[in-house]
Amino acid sequence: MKRVAILLSGRGSNFLALSDAIEAGVVPAEIVLVVSNKAEAPGLQHARDRGYKALFIPSKGKEREVFDREVVTELKKARVDVVCLAGFMRLLSSYFVREFPMRILNIHPSLLPAFPGLDAQGQAVAWGAKFSGCTVHFVDEELDHGPIILQQVVPVLDDDDGEALSHRILKEEHKAYVEALRLVCADELQLEGRRLRRRS
Ligand code: GRF
Repeated sequence: MKRVAILLSGRGSNFLALSDAIEAGVVPAEIVLVVSNKAEAPGLQHARDRGYKALFIPSKGKEREVFDREVVTELKKARVDVVCLAGFMRLLSSYFVREFPMRILNIHPSLLPAFPGLDAQGQAVAWGAKFSGCTVHFVDEELDHGPIILQQVVPVLDDDDGEALSHRILKEEHKAYVEALRLVCADELQLEGRRLRRRS
């Protein structure tokens, strides 16, 4: 059983999907900590409602690494094996990433390396992409860049705006994140260069 922490800043729908799957026994893990850098994040309230240990650690006005050290201290205290970023709207410092090498997962709402950064769905629509989707990847020291665990494709329809596409992608995010976390927690992946493959 891997000890998992979830970091979030907002709505928390990916957190809820992961929590549902873990509680149903689909992923060999337990959620030992939820951290939000936003006091008003609905995801933080969901975590409390579900009885998880849930901390608000403010980031506003702090230097990146000062905040990251506070979070890492809590993660270590909780003996966390795997960290899932789920709508966590902050870049991690190199310090943070090095404390958990290949043990931090992120979900991004595009087919990376297309459309990194903010409003990936709006970027895909504006670019005229015919397909987009979501990517679950390990976090390295560059934004939206680390080895890809899993991707899911969705079509971009002619009358989509960013919101319609976001909605279509989000449904796939919830499934993709669960399966990616399962693969990681069940130790089913091996890394060759930056390619992740199923262990043979
Ligand atoms: C998702 O679209 C995710 O891909 C992105 O932020 C959004 C978070 O949504 N990183 P939620 O808070 O999990 O509902």
